[in-house]
Amino acid sequence: MINLIQKDKLPHHVAIIMDGNGRWAKEQNKDRLYGHQHGVASVKDIVEGCAEIGIKYLTLYAFSTENWNRPQDEINGLMELLVSTIRSEIEQLNENNIRFDMIGDIKSLPTICIKELGEAKEITAKNTGMTLVLALSYSAKWELIEATKQIAEKVQSGELKSDDINDDIIKQHLSTHHIPDPELMIRTSGEHRISNFLLYQLAYAELYFTSTHWPDFRKENLYEALLNYQNRERRFGKISEQLNPA
Ligand code: IPE
Ligand code: IPE
Ligand code: MG
Repeated sequence: MINLIQKDKLPHHVAIIMDGNGRWAKEQNKDRLYGHQHGVASVKDIVEGCAEIGIKYLTLYAFSTENWNRPQDEINGLMELLVSTIRSEIEQLNENNIRFDMIGDIKSLPTICIKELGEAKEITAKNTGMTLVLALSYSAKWELIEATKQIAEKVQSGELKSDDINDDIIKQHLSTHHIPDPELMIRTSGEHRISNFLLYQLAYAELYFTSTHWPDFRKENLYEALLNYQNRERRFGKISEQLNPA
């Protein structure tokens, strides 16, 4: 299937809501953490697949602001998994020239996670291949509230005039200010919602939903999503004839 993908029509940025670890585990009478652990194999495969094919930015939604409301055991397990995964994978990421980054309210994470994430970012900072962004303790509403506060302070101090606030100014104050908006957003496991992910940045993204649970999602599923994306007409408000003049 990879042969059908047009390399010159790839999205620059793919964002993924990695959903369904819990349901995947339940189907096998295992606990939820077992599902999360198996989700790591999908992360590795998809990071590798995206980098190989030439995607420039991959953002993975790994833990939302709302996920803090889960049972404490599951939260602890996820945080431990985050630390152990970064530790075991960082060398490989570095060898593959991948730059590691994160978005979200990172300071709300356990100290050990903050340290591990910071080191991973530092070690890979000079890499020039794909940028892998983990969204952790992230929600779009949190991000927009933070951006609004920063902009309001600049207006108050006279650094910025309210009339000058535009799309660019808002973008500059989002945690993704250094990253282009995703052209493709994938959500696994059958839910048709955004769950507070990148609301501003997804304004014109193509949305792709699959019933496959995240722990079963592999490169072939990614290729399917990319092909589906390439067969869509992105009109941005125009009409088809304007995009394809006779
Ligand atoms: C996604 O899988 C992982 C996280 C949100 C951390 P879920 O844990 O949401 O799995 P389901 O949706 O309950 O099956
Ligand atoms: C969204 O999945 C968050 C992540 C994948 C990290 P959830 O499973 O938390 O979302 P809802 O609760 O189904 O909306
Ligand atoms: Mg879920």
